[in-house]
Amino acid sequence: MDAISALTGHLSNAIASALGDEWRDADPVIRPANKKQTSADVQVNAAMALAKKVGKNPREVASAIVEALRADDEVMALVDDVEIAGPGFLNITLSTDWVAAQASTILADGSLGVAPAAKTEIIPIDYSSPNVAKEMHVGHLRTTVVGDSLARVLERLGHTVIRQNHVGDWGTPFGMLIEHLLEVGEDSPEAALLESDPNAFYQAARTKFDTAEKAEPAGSKGDFNTRARKRVTLLQGGDPETLAHWNKLMERSKAYFNKVYGLLGVTLTDADLAGESTYNDELAGICDDLESRGIAVVSDGALCIFQDEFTGRDDAPVPLIIRKSDGGYGYATTDLATVRHRSFDLQGDRMVYVVGAPQNLHFRMTWAAADKAGYIRPESTPIHVQIGSVLGKDGKMFKTRSGDSVLLMDLLGEAVDRAAGVVSESKAEMSDEERAVVARQVGIGAVKYADLSVSHDSEYIFDFDRMLALTGNTGPYLQYAATRIRSILARAAEAGYSPAAEITLGEDAERALALKLLDYGAVVAAVGESLEPHRLAGYLFELATTFTAFYEKCPVLKADDDDVRASRLALCELTLGVLVDGLSLLGIETPEKM
Ligand code: ARG
Repeated sequence: MDAISALTGHLSNAIASALGDEWRDADPVIRPANKKQTSADVQVNAAMALAKKVGKNPREVASAIVEALRADDEVMALVDDVEIAGPGFLNITLSTDWVAAQASTILADGSLGVAPAAKTEIIPIDYSSPNVAKEMHVGHLRTTVVGDSLARVLERLGHTVIRQNHVGDWGTPFGMLIEHLLEVGEDSPEAALLESDPNAFYQAARTKFDTAEKAEPAGSKGDFNTRARKRVTLLQGGDPETLAHWNKLMERSKAYFNKVYGLLGVTLTDADLAGESTYNDELAGICDDLESRGIAVVSDGALCIFQDEFTGRDDAPVPLIIRKSDGGYGYATTDLATVRHRSFDLQGDRMVYVVGAPQNLHFRMTWAAADKAGYIRPESTPIHVQIGSVLGKDGKMFKTRSGDSVLLMDLLGEAVDRAAGVVSESKAEMSDEERAVVARQVGIGAVKYADLSVSHDSEYIFDFDRMLALTGNTGPYLQYAATRIRSILARAAEAGYSPAAEITLGEDAERALALKLLDYGAVVAAVGESLEPHRLAGYLFELATTFTAFYEKCPVLKADDDDVRASRLALCELTLGVLVDGLSLLGIETPEKM
């Protein structure tokens, strides 16, 4: 267990006995100590705020708390020293034996300190959600990578995670897409674009449609536009032949998505597909329901929901359009259906949507409307995990030099190629196959880590050189740190040394490493609460640098005492376990060697 979790309950008791039971639930404000100010491990800051509330002197309150702590035998077993500093801070130095024992425990029980959440939840999580026959761009890449990491973390904490890949597989463009597919032929090279460059397929269909729209006299281009429109109606009406064509389109798009997912190593499968089309049959009913209850009204021919809390420039409510004047349903209508489905059918507790930040207003408006309509159970909370934009080195939206969007497969391919360069420089003895595996792990790991190590809602600059660097806060640096420990352990095994069952801590650098290791469980729990994978990335980076400091100070294989060596090997083993496990929660593989 980490120190803060271990101390929290005892501090609540101490506060209660110092100030009275009504203060038991006050936040004790326990933080890691600022190492620049004190050699203590943990700081407790509650006394100042509490003193103000009860009208006492803060140092007096602090000493009453310390007295109560000293009277608690369990506290005295985990603490060496409690000291009052400044206006009433408590500086706590943990018992080194306690730290060592905790580290030994989380190594021996295999938990690494990660415990199941106190209350397990059902958590539908919407992520990736690309559009069929359109490019899957770096924005979708980021929601895929962040969402996948969150799904892994939440599962590790014991929650029931229900992945929902809300692909854009329905709507008016499908008329022209199906007609284009019929024209070029299902086995043509043009149709094959659906699996290699879907955006090109989409653009070709769009160009045909737009040209036909502009043609004079109308219809001179073979009525492509008229046929496309008719196809939309047939599709929405459930015409079997049209649905069969639509299915062909879907199959090929799925093949494309799965190619990307396979290369990325994300956990999404076909079973997680829950695209817009799945809600098609519910949309008319939702509109009727909302209209009959007066929640939606017809305005300029469109069925709209006006909500006082969402106003435009003129202070008039902006409409959420749920049925267009041509009778078609939109993105918002489908999202009324998703939130209802996830709340009622899936019984979601937290319902997580990992989607680009620009869609925040859409979600807020849709959920507020859904709430008014009773489409969200009071026990369910929808959450928008906002994904910031990915920018090019020029600070603008990420594009190729010619201004086109970057094809995701090309981008990932380049990451792998560049990583191959990094790998071949460092390890000459690897076979080509091994090298290819490592290049994929490092290249993809670098892209993922770059996505995950900045907070999900901030923008970041896509820069291959930076993300593939072997130093600094990068995926390859952490992978390298792990492989280095692997090789220490391998050399130890060759020499017949094995890790100790009990860790002992002599040097400061050993103690600092062990303390850092104890934090892992709390960090994973915090990511499960805050839905912020960058906290885990930041922790792993700190762990790797703490390990480096330990390794510089404390010889492992060359330790002059057998017990010290065995204990240090155990610290190495635990560090490796946490690094590999933490990276896997980020969806990043650790190479055997690199
Ligand atoms: N397909 C959408 C897009 O590419 C994202 C869908 C997100 N999920 C949702 N339930 N709206 O922008």
